[in-house]
Amino acid sequence: MMDDQIGRTFVDHFEQRGHRLVPGSTLIPPPGDPVLFTTSGMHPLTPYLLGDPHPLGRRLVNVQRCLRTTDLDEVGDRTHLTMFEMLGSWSLGDYPITQSLRWGYELLRDGFGVPHDRMHVTVFGGDDRVGPDEDALRTWQDLGVPVELTGEENWWDNGPTGPCGPDSEIFLWTGEGTPHGTPGTDDRWMEVWNHVQMRYHRHPDGRLTRLRQPGVDTGLGRERLEMALGRHRSVYQGDGMVPWTGGVHELGDLPERDLRVVSDHLRTSTVVIGDGVRPSNTGRGYVLRRLIRRALTTLWRHDPTRTLSDLPPDPVRRTLDRFRQPVPVDDVRDVLTGEEHRFRELLRRGRPVVLRRRSRSPLTDADYRDLHDTHGLPRDLVDTLLTQPSE
Ligand code: ALA
Repeated sequence: MMDDQIGRTFVDHFEQRGHRLVPGSTLIPPPGDPVLFTTSGMHPLTPYLLGDPHPLGRRLVNVQRCLRTTDLDEVGDRTHLTMFEMLGSWSLGDYPITQSLRWGYELLRDGFGVPHDRMHVTVFGGDDRVGPDEDALRTWQDLGVPVELTGEENWWDNGPTGPCGPDSEIFLWTGEGTPHGTPGTDDRWMEVWNHVQMRYHRHPDGRLTRLRQPGVDTGLGRERLEMALGRHRSVYQGDGMVPWTGGVHELGDLPERDLRVVSDHLRTSTVVIGDGVRPSNTGRGYVLRRLIRRALTTLWRHDPTRTLSDLPPDPVRRTLDRFRQPVPVDDVRDVLTGEEHRFRELLRRGRPVVLRRRSRSPLTDADYRDLHDTHGLPRDLVDTLLTQPSE
């Protein structure tokens, strides 16, 4: 992680300001945690944000790999990846949001060299329960950074219950020429860094209570920052993605968006496999299975003879090295090709069953249920069979 200049600069900045480095964990949350994968750097810190004392103190920094399946439909655009690295900083009841925003601004401008006029921010403008975030607003006005006030887009939580609060997001201009518009009116403003005031605890009945010890939770997307600093067209031109787009290209030509989707899914699958998950029909294994199958479905839409056996080892090796995963490259390739084999078999057996049923009438919910219960064909697979050319 620390061979990475962006990560190093981030951690140094916060260590110089009294933060202690919390080692990043794998994508797998600790036992007993209801979520399948770590979705944010704050996730493993939830008890401390709620008030437990952290053994390393009240100022923390870390680099955490995260996986989000909520953005799957956006993966393949310029800015979304299923797995990404989050550079995080925390004040556990220590300094306030105003300090966090100032340190964030200084790091972007002086540490990473982002010109002042390529920044825009958004701030929580208030709703029927919580007033506008005056502290954040005043800080940005003092710094001379343009502000857009929004509503629920600037409220952050990590699920229906737990710590939450208003946030302020920093956007960088990724277009050609002089920046213009606002994050709400021009999507060339790309969100890179979120600063959340962890002020409230949402309870299972929806009640919000004030935290005893309000804190600050921030997360900066490493791949997005790399894109902005390198003036790249998309996150897929970053160091971690280029080996994948190159490797997937060797499987055959694909339109840009499909090339990105397949690259993203195979890279994510590699890290998930490296963290010990294997394809299955439940939980994490099912997420992995879906990612590999979505990659295959995308590849086969263009040519059903394409195979992951032709994937060069280089992107897999580099990714395992990058995340310090001591797993042989061939093990990952075996998992990928084993899943491809199972998927092909399922399609081969399922296709005549589904097509026969479909030739009588459009499929109803009862058909889908029966295809699942009697033939072991899940709904998404049935839909794939209806849209995929056969080999
Ligand atoms: N936890 C916040 C986020 O993920 C920083 O955006």
